[in-house]
Amino acid sequence: MTSVPNLLKPVEKGSDPVCFLGVLISGRGSNLQALLDAIVDGRVRARVAVVISNRADAPGLQRAAKAGIETLVLPHRDAPSRAAYDEMLVSALQSRGVTLVCLAGFMRLLGPRFCDAFPQAILNVHPSLLPAFPGVDAQRQALEAGVRVSGATVHFVTPALDAGPVIVQAAVPVHHDDTVASLSTRILSEEHRILPQAVQWVIEGRCHLENGRVVVR
Ligand code: GAR
Repeated sequence: MTSVPNLLKPVEKGSDPVCFLGVLISGRGSNLQALLDAIVDGRVRARVAVVISNRADAPGLQRAAKAGIETLVLPHRDAPSRAAYDEMLVSALQSRGVTLVCLAGFMRLLGPRFCDAFPQAILNVHPSLLPAFPGVDAQRQALEAGVRVSGATVHFVTPALDAGPVIVQAAVPVHHDDTVASLSTRILSEEHRILPQAVQWVIEGRCHLENGRVVVR
């Protein structure tokens, strides 16, 4: 049995230990907002040390700035290779003391260099019941496949696309008259619920890997 490493990091003498989160985004940032809200109301015992976007125009950067959180734009096109981009991200996160990374709508594949730097400490939220419908447009894929149920997944990240041990999933019905927009809205509200929940479980050390699967205690 492999335990997820203890992610608690002492901040200052006399204060409660707190986990330093790094959040990676590419767009709107509603999952980032769900995390920030959960931190404010005490459901997640963490601080967001930095929000990094690969896109300068990501609206989520404004949400972070409004919450007084440091933001960083690291365009992937500035890096000569995928490995070099991974390296840029790792050094930006580690230099800020980040021990747990959340991919909250970050639309870049991360390689072994990144995954090895944060073993079992990178979480991703995805708008489908993985392993169904990985990649982009998961909600459209679900509609086109004609499934009756879809949902959201939070999982530990491995170098493969939208893969890695599942921590928590939430199912939603797919209605016959759903559009991509209506299904996305239904799934998104579940994402906003299960991402903070999974983050807190990991912080509390409640997630264990047994034979490649996550067991939550
Ligand atoms: C979310 O639906 C998230 O699950 C998805 O991008 C959206 C980001 O929304 N991520 C993926 O598809 C990852 N493969 P947000 O910026 O409002 O959080």
